[in-house]
Amino acid sequence: MNNMSKLSISSSRPLCPRSKAIIIGASSGIGASLAFRLAEEGYVLALVSRNENKLKKLCDSINDKTSGEAVYFVHDVTDDSDIFGLFVKICSQIGGLDLFIYNAGIQFPSDPEIFSSTNDLDVFQVNLLGAVRWLNLVGERFRKLNKGHIVSIGSIAGDRGRGSMSAYSASKSGLHTYMEGFRNRLVRHGVIITTIKPGQVKTDLLKNAHKEMWPVSSEFAANCIYNAIKKRRMVAYVPARWYLVGMVICLIPSIIFRRLNI
Ligand SMILES: NC(=O)c1ccc[n+]([C@@H]2O[C@H](COP(=O)([O-])OP(=O)(O)OC[C@H]3O[C@@H](n4cnc5c(N)ncnc54)[C@H](OP(=O)(O)O)[C@@H]3O)[C@@H](O)[C@H]2O)c1
Repeated sequence: MNNMSKLSISSSRPLCPRSKAIIIGASSGIGASLAFRLAEEGYVLALVSRNENKLKKLCDSINDKTSGEAVYFVHDVTDDSDIFGLFVKICSQIGGLDLFIYNAGIQFPSDPEIFSSTNDLDVFQVNLLGAVRWLNLVGERFRKLNKGHIVSIGSIAGDRGRGSMSAYSASKSGLHTYMEGFRNRLVRHGVIITTIKPGQVKTDLLKNAHKEMWPVSSEFAANCIYNAIKKRRMVAYVPARWYLVGMVICLIPSIIFRRLNI
């Protein structure tokens, strides 16, 4: 399923080249705020996800209020029928690609009484397998060009298997490891790989968390992510204080961790 945006990008200015980026999962929350943040820096953006109304409004707002430009493409990451065709179309419409961000993610409400393979497999499809489909296309392109920057939005929840969200933690843990492998494969070809591990961010997805812990706004998170991109970080916790929390969480023995209600 894909639909090309009706909005168009103005022709490039040779003396003033602008960075080009794709964000997968850009219609709301962290993805939408990050799109806005990058547009404020003058990026030309392709915004990709399922909700056309939200994408269109976001593109209108970016094109109206920032020095950047944005077009949208309607696409479901669980549909792999013609991702290659869509990828080629996007790169040609925005005039190249410098930065690719995989942000799409879902989480179901946690209920200890429900054991649902359907829900868990959906989480893997969007959070991990959708990323695999896109990252291989982008990795191959950047490998040939010997440059480029790939960013994935993981989660601090991927650092341990959490009883309240085992599929979500496993999908993010898989994504972190996949990204590390990609880094080890592509770093010698000049390609930068950044894994972002946010703590809690106030978005629609957070409504499905079983409790809230120091949530930050999506605008604040987007600014931290933008700084991590600019500094070409390998891994960045967002906000940075979650790095210390993450270290402590990783050191807690399993016998104690399972008793914590997180
Ligand atoms: N909020 C938090 O506390 C938190 C913490 C750690 C990590 N994260 C991660 O941050 C990322 C963004 O989440 P968010 O909190 O900003 O939640 P959100 O507002 O619900 O955003 C999720 C984004 O993913 C897109 N998406 C979902 N399913 C998709 C599909 N099948 N195909 C294409 N796009 C799809 C949605 O767009 P459409 O609905 O238009 O398709 C939306 O743009 C996720 O990867 C999430 O796991 C969030």
